[in-house]
Amino acid sequence: MATASEIAAVGVIGAGQMGSGIAQLAAAAGCAVLLLDADPAALSRAVASISSSLRRLAAKGHLSQAACEDSIGRIRCVSAVQDLRDADLVIEAIVENEDVKKRLFVELDKITKPSTILASNTSSISITRLASATKRPAQVIGMHFFNPPPIMKLIEIIRGADTSDEVFATVKSFSERLGKTVICSHDYPGFIVNRVLMPMINEAFWALYTGVATKEDIDTGMKLGTNHPMGPLQLADFIGLDVCLSVLRVLHNGLGDNKYSPCPLLVQYVDAGRLGKKRGLGVYSYG
Ligand code: CAA
Ligand code: NAD
Repeated sequence: MATASEIAAVGVIGAGQMGSGIAQLAAAAGCAVLLLDADPAALSRAVASISSSLRRLAAKGHLSQAACEDSIGRIRCVSAVQDLRDADLVIEAIVENEDVKKRLFVELDKITKPSTILASNTSSISITRLASATKRPAQVIGMHFFNPPPIMKLIEIIRGADTSDEVFATVKSFSERLGKTVICSHDYPGFIVNRVLMPMINEAFWALYTGVATKEDIDTGMKLGTNHPMGPLQLADFIGLDVCLSVLRVLHNGLGDNKYSPCPLLVQYVDAGRLGKKRGLGVYSYG
């Protein structure tokens, strides 16, 4: 198995908000990146957003023009899981759905080389259960980035029941190679950050649903009253209301406490396709 400094090829699956940022980070750290998405349009959007993000950083003098173009050149879009066979590390960032993720892990286990580490960027789903879909549970781990990955300084690492010490140490060092601070969580629903964050977002929806205040006042209250960079409803739109709802359902089902039950207003927005900023409409609308 490659050590953190030997990780040369990284597969990223899911080229949405998170996968594109993760691909950018890995390419900027010098890795060859193989980026896969079921939707070809998502791949085109990801390449455009990574290129403009890196060029903005170069224009501001955060990296040289040559380093910027080299990083962009290290990203190759691919169209089949088989194209990831030689990756040293695969980071999955597809939809937050356990069955869909498990089906992907079964496939990845079959096609990748025996030494490949399989990581999931899941926000809440059990790493132990994802690992159980493979014949290499010691090499499966949670590597939870934060949105937007190039800016947020944290990676939360989650060890499944069988994750080996060697894989944990490699992924921790690799996260540090990406310039991130690491925290480690046991494998419980929502891990550390979403266990605490999502009930706050849900409560903001309840406050809006029950007419406590306007969305603007709820957000301004939390921004200026608690010094958060975004209010909770704006943050929910930024994360994706579908992601917030999926995480709350995992917390509710896994921890069995009604305090995690998703607010009906959040459910209704998702049912209506109001998924947040990425779709142009959520709690707020984005022109
Ligand atoms: N790549 C690289 N750099 C980027 C970038 C990108 N994609 N987007 C922005 N930047 C840079 C900008 O160039 C700018 O750099 P300089 O300071 O050098 O000029 C810097 O980042 C700040 O950018 P902006 O001025 O545009 O943005 P801002 O100051 O309004 O901050 C924000 C934007 C960082 C998103 C801030 O609003 C924030 O921190 N919001 C909260 C985000 C948060 O809580 N994320 C976690 C969500 S929970 C989660 O992710 C887990 C889960 O499982 C759901
Ligand atoms: P997104 O909707 O922006 O992107 C998901 C991408 O995955 C889409 O482009 C979709 O086409 C692709 N996809 C779906 N199923 C696929 C499959 N079987 N094979 C290949 N591609 C597939 O979602 P996102 O916000 O980037 O979230 C992705 C993952 O990251 C989720 O597990 C989410 O919980 C987690 N996450 C999200 C955030 C956030 O703030 N949005 C933060 C941390 C972690």
